[in-house]
Formats: sequence, structure tokens, C-alpha cells
Amino acid sequence: MSDAPKPEIFKGLAGVPVDYTAISKVNAETNSLLYRGYPVQQLAASATFEEVAYLLWHGELPDERQLAEFEQFERANRHLDPVVKHVVDALPTNAHPMDVVRTAVSVMGARDGLTADDSPEAELDKSKRLFAAIPAVVAYDQRRRRGLELVEPRDDLGYSANFLFMAFDEVPELPVVDAFDVSMILYAEHSFNASTFTARVVTSTLSDLHSAVVAAIGALKGPLHGGANEAVMHTFDEIGEAERASAWLDEALAAKRKVMGFGHRVYKNGDSRVPTMKAALDSLVEHYDRPDLLALYEALANEFTERKGIHPNLDYPSGPAYHLMGWDTEQFTPLFVASRVTGWTAHIMEQRASNALIRPLSVYDGVDQRDVPQREPVE
Ligand code: ACO
Repeated sequence: MSDAPKPEIFKGLAGVPVDYTAISKVNAETNSLLYRGYPVQQLAASATFEEVAYLLWHGELPDERQLAEFEQFERANRHLDPVVKHVVDALPTNAHPMDVVRTAVSVMGARDGLTADDSPEAELDKSKRLFAAIPAVVAYDQRRRRGLELVEPRDDLGYSANFLFMAFDEVPELPVVDAFDVSMILYAEHSFNASTFTARVVTSTLSDLHSAVVAAIGALKGPLHGGANEAVMHTFDEIGEAERASAWLDEALAAKRKVMGFGHRVYKNGDSRVPTMKAALDSLVEHYDRPDLLALYEALANEFTERKGIHPNLDYPSGPAYHLMGWDTEQFTPLFVASRVTGWTAHIMEQRASNALIRPLSVYDGVDQRDVPQREPVE
């Protein structure tokens, strides 16, 4: 091994800025998150997810006419493509739903007439069609696991109401739609997180938009990233009731287990999105009359934060919120996909507009150069 001093490396690219972005600003010091300059809490309070998606792609909120046009487009593209359905039906019902949605997006890419066209107009069109089509995959996948038939979309409902309608075959009540819409807005975008960075790396090779989204789905699946919202619910199932939270934590910390739904690479004093999602969870707890779930939520959060100084992230309140709405735990991360596809595609377009191949360096720390041993010829 060489004795030369090793250059400093930044494991996990922690703290390393790698490019500019005009899409969102995460500020850990002020504990704030801006989408195109707007605080995400204000957007969650007064905009729909459709408006936020438009904002992320176009840089401005839509006016009345632009919103009407976009809504019309979204409603016209909600149906599950029969070929995608055919492929989904061919997958085992015990396949992880993230594998299903990843496969479905891959099929959509292979069937998309615009795959090779990376003009800004074509990229926007593909982004909007993915936004409209992914809910049908997620909703249908949950239904087929339960042995239920596909529910066709309704074009008299907004994005979130229709998403829930396709999953549960009933028009959801307003507090449920509102909480779901808030979760979609909060999950939509978060600068250079692992999955978004993955999408940008793939785009930087001049690959196509669907390939970048498929890769991003793969990155999101991991429990250190999007997969944490499912893991939170598994934790709740393990603990069972608020009174057991302390003892469970003793064991988890002794076993050096990570407590899912806590901690963040950027926010060290709390995740800016949590108070808004917690308020949405509170309204669901009231709607479904589940104070026991809230008690468990509070017991674990208070005890863990007090002991370790590590705060909940967005996955902590969103996991139990999706559970209360009736989603199966394994569908939580695909719901994150349905939302984050807006941020991913906005970043794909931004990357393409001022591209440089993303190709970092590595520092070799293997054995020094050596010669391949010469073998004696066999007699
Ligand atoms: N449970 C227990 N310990 C934790 C946790 C946690 N959730 N998070 C951080 N720590 C501890 C680590 O063990 C480590 O301790 P050590 O210094 O004694 O070894 C220290 O805090 C630093 O943690 P790292 O994992 O090195 O910090 P990093 O910035 O890389 O972590 C991460 C960020 C990966 C999100 C981490 O907090 C984690 O694993 N959390 C659980 C998974 C999770 O909830 N992910 C969702 C992320 S947000 C999102 O995708 C919406």
C-alpha cells in the first residue's frame, strides 16, 4: 500500500455542494423549506398538490386558466394503461409494491412515444403523464393484493380524492383528502436527497427521463430514505401500545438499532415538514377516533428525542397517517413515489438544461501495483 498522504474524502458526500438548483431550498439553520421561494407550510395550507406540481415544473404557481388546463390534462391521463396492467398482473402479489411501481414506470418508458425526445416540451409532457398515471398503478396494486378489481378513475374528483377513490372504491371524506393532499405536497421535493441525486446522475449521461425516474425509485426504496415511512409502521406494530415504548426503546438502543423515522442528514434540529404533517395526522386521529395511536406516536417521539437529541423526520408522522387512511404498510413508499416524481422530474429538466456528466473521483486504497504470477506450463 502506498504511503502517500490520502486526499480528504467526504463520505456519503456529506456537506458537499455539487450543483446549483432553483427548485427548492432546504435551510437547516432556520428549519425551513422553500419550493421556488414559497414556504412549504404556506403551500400546504393554501394550494393543492396539482398547483404545487405545476409550481415545481414551471417555477410559478398557475393562474386560473393554466390550472384548469393542467387539471384537464391530468384527468385525461389517469387511466391504467392496459399493457401496464397486464404486466402488473403478471407479477406475484408478494412482490414489494416498490418493485411493482418501478416495473410499471419502466414499462411506461418503453411504451412512451417521446422517450428519445428530450426537448423541454417533451420532458414536461412526460413528467405530467407520469404524475397522472402513477396513482392508478399504486391504487390498483393494493387492490389486486386484496383480491379486488381495478377501480376506474373519476374525472370529477381532484388528484388526491381520485387517488383514494381508485384505492378504496369510495369517495373519501374531506379531512382524509386534505391530509393526503398535504402529505403529497410535503413529500414532493427536497433538493439533492439520495433519490433526486440519483435521477440527476442518470440524466447527466443523457439517458432518458423514465430511466432516471426508475433509478430514483430504486434509491427511494431503501429504509434510510423513503422506505422509512413503512419501517415506522413496523416499529409501531412491534411496540403495540404507548406504555411499551420506553422498554422497546431500551432494547432497540441496546441492540444499536436505528429507530426509523428519526434523524436527517441535513436537519439536525428537526425536520421543517414535521409540524405540518403532524397537524394532518392529528386531524386524522380525531376523524378516525384513534387516540391510542397518537399516544404511541407521542410516547416514542418524546422519549427518543429526549434520550438521543434526534428528532422525527417527515416519515414519522406520514407512516401512521397513511395507516389510518387504510393503506397497507408496504404501499407507503409508493405513495412517496407518486409525490416525489414531481421533484425528480423538475430536477431532471434542470439537470438537462445545464448538463455536466456527474463523475466524481475515488481514492484507491487497495493493494499496490503487482505482476500477475506466471504459471508453469502444464506438461
Ligand atoms: N436511530 C438511532 N440512531 C440514529 C438515528 C436513528 N434514527 N439517526 C441517527 N442516529 C445516530 C447514528 O447511529 C449515529 O450515531 P453514532 O455517531 O454514535 O454512530 C449518529 O446519530 C449520526 O447518524 P448518521 O446515520 O451517521 O447520520 P446521517 O446524517 O448519515 O443520517 C439518516 C441520516 C440516514 C436519515 C439517519 O438519521 C437514519 O438512519 N435515520 C433512520 C432512517 C430514516 O428515518 N430515514 C428517513 C430520512 S428522511 C426522508 O427520507 C423523508
